[in-house]
Order: sequence, then structure tokens, then C-alpha cells
Amino acid sequence: MNQTTKIVLILAILIAAGAMLVLGSLLIAGWFLVPTRSTGISFQEGFAIQTNDYASNGERIYFTGASESGPPIRAQMEGMRRMPGGRSGCASCHGADARGARVSMMMSTVTAPDIRWEHLTEEEHDGEHGEDHPAYTAETFKRAVTEGLNPSGEELHWIMPRWEMSDSQIDDLISYLQSIE
Ligand code: HEC
Repeated sequence: MNQTTKIVLILAILIAAGAMLVLGSLLIAGWFLVPTRSTGISFQEGFAIQTNDYASNGERIYFTGASESGPPIRAQMEGMRRMPGGRSGCASCHGADARGARVSMMMSTVTAPDIRWEHLTEEEHDGEHGEDHPAYTAETFKRAVTEGLNPSGEELHWIMPRWEMSDSQIDDLISYLQSIE
């Protein structure tokens, strides 16, 4: 083995070790801080979708958490000042198809339920998340999104952020959830 080969080899080993260290810590940090979904799009992919065009404002809010009109939407999880990782929409947790998924964050794992309008307003609404509660109405949907209470008045899990949204933004979101099957 000549001198150059040795240097190249040592460099390659160093780079590989460095990459493993960085990737390892990113994985651990990501697992701890960023909600991850078991199926469908991941939290990170939720951000990528933001560059697309949207057919309606409701769809935009669903995917990005940003509205084209009205006051800026803010989201907060209990005990946190802002959503970690910056802006994100409902799709990050409830899925691109709104059919829900398991979401893990800071060692809690919980189901972000199916929130297609058809499903939310079903009479027999047995929550995948354990609780039975009456069917949602526009009124109770708004309360769930902004105050984190289900139709029976029970607190939703802290992973579901509390959103600051105007009535018209909520209406846009409802129209979008009504449009998907
Ligand atoms: C960080 C993950 C996350 C994001 C983002 C998120 N949710 Fe949720 N959501 C949840 C979880 C988890 C639950 C279940 C809470 C529980 O079971 O107590 C939930 C519950 C709900 C419920 C109650 C459903 C039911 O069956 O009672 C509604 C409605 C809802 N979310 C709407 C939204 C909307 C609208 C958005 C976007 C504006 C959104 N969520 C964004 C995680 C999230």
C-alpha cells in the first residue's frame, strides 16, 4: 500500500465515522422532538408539500397551516411556545388523505384520528383514540381545533395543537374536509 492509498483510506474512514455521528444524533433528536407518523407522509414531507399550488384556501391550511387571507394562523402545543419545526399543517399528523395515523412525539404515541368531515359527523363516532363522543358539528369542530376539546367537552391529547384561526378560516377548512372522501 503506498502513501496516497493510506491517506485516502484514513480520510474515507474519518468521513464515514463523522457521517455516522451526525446522522445518529439527527435520528435521536428527530425521534425525540419531531412528530413522526407511522404511515403516509412524514412531518418533514409535510413541509415539502407547501410549495405546491392549492385548489382552495382550506386545502392550503390543511397542508401548510398558512392561510391566504385573514390573520396569520398560529398553533401551540401545551407547554410549548410554538409548534416545533416551524409551520406545518394538519396533514403532518392526520395524513395527506385526512384518514389519520399514529403520531409519536417526545415518547408519547397517540392516534391522530380520521378527520374527513364525513367521518367526524357520523352518528356512531367511536374514536379510534378510545373515547366515544357525539358526532361533530361546525361548532364543536371549531372548539376542537381552537380549544382542544371534543364534543363531550373532554380535553384532546396535547399532541393535537391548539390553533388560532378565524371563523372564515375554519369554514374554509371544513369545506376542504367535506370535499375529500
Ligand atoms: C402534531 C400533530 C397534529 C397536528 C399538526 C394536527 N393534529 Fe389534530 N389531532 C392530533 C391528535 C394526536 C389528535 C387526537 C387527540 C386525542 O385523541 O385526544 C387530534 C385530534 C383532532 C380532532 C378531534 C378528532 C376527534 O375524533 O375527536 C380534530 C377535529 C383535529 N385533530 C383537527 C385538526 C386540524 C383541523 C388540524 C390542522 C389545522 C390538526 N388537527 C392538526 C394531532 C395533530
